[in-house]
Amino acid sequence: MKDSMSCCSDENGLNPMATTLFHSLRFRLIASVVTIEIVMLSLLVWNNITIIHATHTDRLRDTASSIIQQIANTSGNYMVAVDYATLEDYLGKVMNYQELDYLVILDRGEGTVISLGSAPHAPWPAIDPHPARVTDGVFDTSSEILVAGQPMGKVLMGFSLSLMEEAIQKSRIRGISIAAAEIILTVIVTVLIGLGLTRRLGVLSKAAQAVGGGDYSVNIPVETADEVGKTARAFNQMVTEVSSRSQQLEEAEKKARKLLAENRQLIHTSLTVQEEERKHLARELHDELGQCITAIQADAKSIRDLSQGRDERIMTSSGAILEVSSRIYEVVHSMMQRLRPGILDDLGLIEALQEEISAWQERNPNTKCTFNTSGDLADLGERTNITIYRIVQECLTNVAKYANASEVTIDLSKNSDGLVLSVKDDGQGIDLSAPTGSGLGLIGMRERAEALGGKFSMETEPGNGVSIFITISEENRQPADRRKTRS
Ligand SMILES: Nc1ncnc2c1ncn2[C@@H]1O[C@H](COP(=O)(O)OP(=O)(O)OP(=O)(O)O)[C@@H](O)[C@H]1O
Ligand SMILES: [Mg+2]
Repeated sequence: MKDSMSCCSDENGLNPMATTLFHSLRFRLIASVVTIEIVMLSLLVWNNITIIHATHTDRLRDTASSIIQQIANTSGNYMVAVDYATLEDYLGKVMNYQELDYLVILDRGEGTVISLGSAPHAPWPAIDPHPARVTDGVFDTSSEILVAGQPMGKVLMGFSLSLMEEAIQKSRIRGISIAAAEIILTVIVTVLIGLGLTRRLGVLSKAAQAVGGGDYSVNIPVETADEVGKTARAFNQMVTEVSSRSQQLEEAEKKARKLLAENRQLIHTSLTVQEEERKHLARELHDELGQCITAIQADAKSIRDLSQGRDERIMTSSGAILEVSSRIYEVVHSMMQRLRPGILDDLGLIEALQEEISAWQERNPNTKCTFNTSGDLADLGERTNITIYRIVQECLTNVAKYANASEVTIDLSKNSDGLVLSVKDDGQGIDLSAPTGSGLGLIGMRERAEALGGKFSMETEPGNGVSIFITISEENRQPADRRKTRS
């Protein structure tokens, strides 16, 4: 039972067919017109019948009144002359009147003098005030017969209502037939107009659906100059306009995509050149400055040794040169590390990051830095390694410069979705509604991530720290880097 209900009803409990019908413009148009027609024509027919009924009954009342008056006047003389035979003859002619049912002449003592037609017997029927209030089908009326003001008797007359009712019935049938014909005609005309209208609107609606689906080749035939025709013309113009606009948009989008690809390529190249340059600088520092400092240290050492026990001042100065040159060596070594972390090549990303983090931790003892890793992070490839390394480096620099954080957490993981890096601090955060400065750190992070086909995102609000997320999915990683990883 439940199933059969659900198969035939929608969620509002309506039959789907009824719902479809109700939503059909054609159905609503026809239903409205037919309902209005039926109500209006019923009122019209009812009004006409009322008027016809009133007209007929008034006419019968007037006719009856004039006939009875005339008979009362004429009968008086015959009664005075006691000429009942001529009176009956005269009244016999009056009885030819079709609506007349009976005619009775009474004398002064209420005795029947003449009785014609289907006359009733005494006691005589009550007099009807108006034909409209008759209940037995005969309009009973009477009149006194007066001669020189003296009552001579009474005329009783009954008029049959059947003829009048027949006429009223005929009028009613005619009125209803005309109304029915009008309703049928209206329905036919409305259906035809509705069919034409909905067919053309259907064409418009299908065309609009096609345009919505991206097909701009549709062109609606403009059949007429009416509102639907005008709408079709306007629709065609709109489609042409939308089509040309979307073509322009597509071209602009294509150009933008091409520019973006070129831009990315440029960034790849510039990052590669930058890393190469850093590598070169690190080598130069090592080979040139490193050698010089070593030479200075050797010379200072031999001067110190030679001056031992001879000249105290030379010994002190050479000792100072040794000390300063070792400090310079330390600085140069640290610069070399920042320029090109050799450990990245030698021991890999994790060791290099741990080294960088512990050096950072020493410089920033007030912020606790935690580093977590998960998944297989070995052999990510040179470009991925340097990208992650540089991003972490920039994040830590920013935390030290701006965050005033008590804690920073770095998570690096690799799973089936790819490589995910997050750096979260609990510092003062960034007010993104404030105008941005000219810094390149955050932009550089995004560019480095996107250069590897990855994604950069940042979550922050004033007082709630900054969280940086980098995601590089396996299939998005640059082919060159993937090759490197596999080899
Ligand atoms: N962890 C952070 N906490 C609070 N503010 C931050 C943090 N990181 C960045 N900012 C804010 O965002 C701005 C932009 O940072 P970004 O690294 O892009 O540029 P920069 O550090 O100012 O300059 P550059 O990195 O080029 O030397 C910074 O000026 C700083 O106001
Ligand atoms: Mg910065």
